[in-house]
Amino acid sequence: MNTFSKKAPIRVAVTGAAGNIGYALLFRIASGQMFGPDQPVALNLIEIEPGMAALRGVAMELDDCAFPLVAEIVQTSDLSVGFKDVDWALLVGSVPRKQGMERADLLGINGKVFVGQGKAINDYAKSSVRVLVVGNPCNTNCLIAMKSAPNIPDEQFFAMTRLDENRAKTQLAHKAGVAVKEVSELCVWGNHSPSMYPDFENAKIGRSKVTDVILDQAWLRDTFVPTVGQRGKAIIDARGASSAASAANAVVDTVRDLSNPTRGDLHSVCVISNGEYGSPAGIITSLPIRVDGAGKWRVVEGVKLSDYAKEKIAASNQELLEEREVAFGQLGLSI
Ligand code: LMR
Repeated sequence: MNTFSKKAPIRVAVTGAAGNIGYALLFRIASGQMFGPDQPVALNLIEIEPGMAALRGVAMELDDCAFPLVAEIVQTSDLSVGFKDVDWALLVGSVPRKQGMERADLLGINGKVFVGQGKAINDYAKSSVRVLVVGNPCNTNCLIAMKSAPNIPDEQFFAMTRLDENRAKTQLAHKAGVAVKEVSELCVWGNHSPSMYPDFENAKIGRSKVTDVILDQAWLRDTFVPTVGQRGKAIIDARGASSAASAANAVVDTVRDLSNPTRGDLHSVCVISNGEYGSPAGIITSLPIRVDGAGKWRVVEGVKLSDYAKEKIAASNQELLEEREVAFGQLGLSI
């Protein structure tokens, strides 16, 4: 018997499990890339009824990989089964945006899905469950799920800007002509929308400030920032479909880094704001995060923001307040 089989499995629910991101994600969780090479996983695969046939195919393929870490695969369209006793709920499933749409255009379409999922997580998941929302608009959908799950602490809800952080690091690395691993301390602040702010002023290339390596301020402000903000659209334009493999990769990065003490670099995660750095309390906004030795995440303190950065972040957070007003109005939720 392998020694790793002595660990209790981590139970992970994935919604939209037969969708494009789900297909790119599940095999990476099952192979140990999310929780480590000695950590068994139980996979609760959730789909809407029309997706169940495709989900059977995905589960067959997972079986056919004979992953030694997979303890169980559950296939269901019933949220009370899907979220039962889960440690992590990865809310991936939602209607993706098409060409010509902004992520916020999906509010009316996707918002109510997250009410039902939040309620089911509240009622059936472990009280220690952690929830990562990927379906767009992910910050506001996360807030909707959080409000619908009053028994689960707000600190256990996250939305994803790691994809934007990864995109930003690569853009800077390409410009500077260095390997992407040289870029660190790059936080994306605010909303996962074109208004997000990838903070190049505090980021580093090697040991130097980015602004000491890339001297072209105009490029940083007028090309880099919008390129990162519009990268999702650029992928849709090029592929005819929204990002899937890179989104799944960012889910793996986010969950792995929230599950382990941070060594070195900080990371961008959308979390509940308690007013840090002037962000309005009560929204889910992207902030720089580190996980301490006890496994608790904390917002990194002492980041020095320029007036330019503060203005960008405030504008993105203002957009989140507006999204909340629209969504909560539509769904009859109170702030
Ligand atoms: C992305 O950033 O690629 C995703 O959020 C999909 C989208 O609609 O942009």
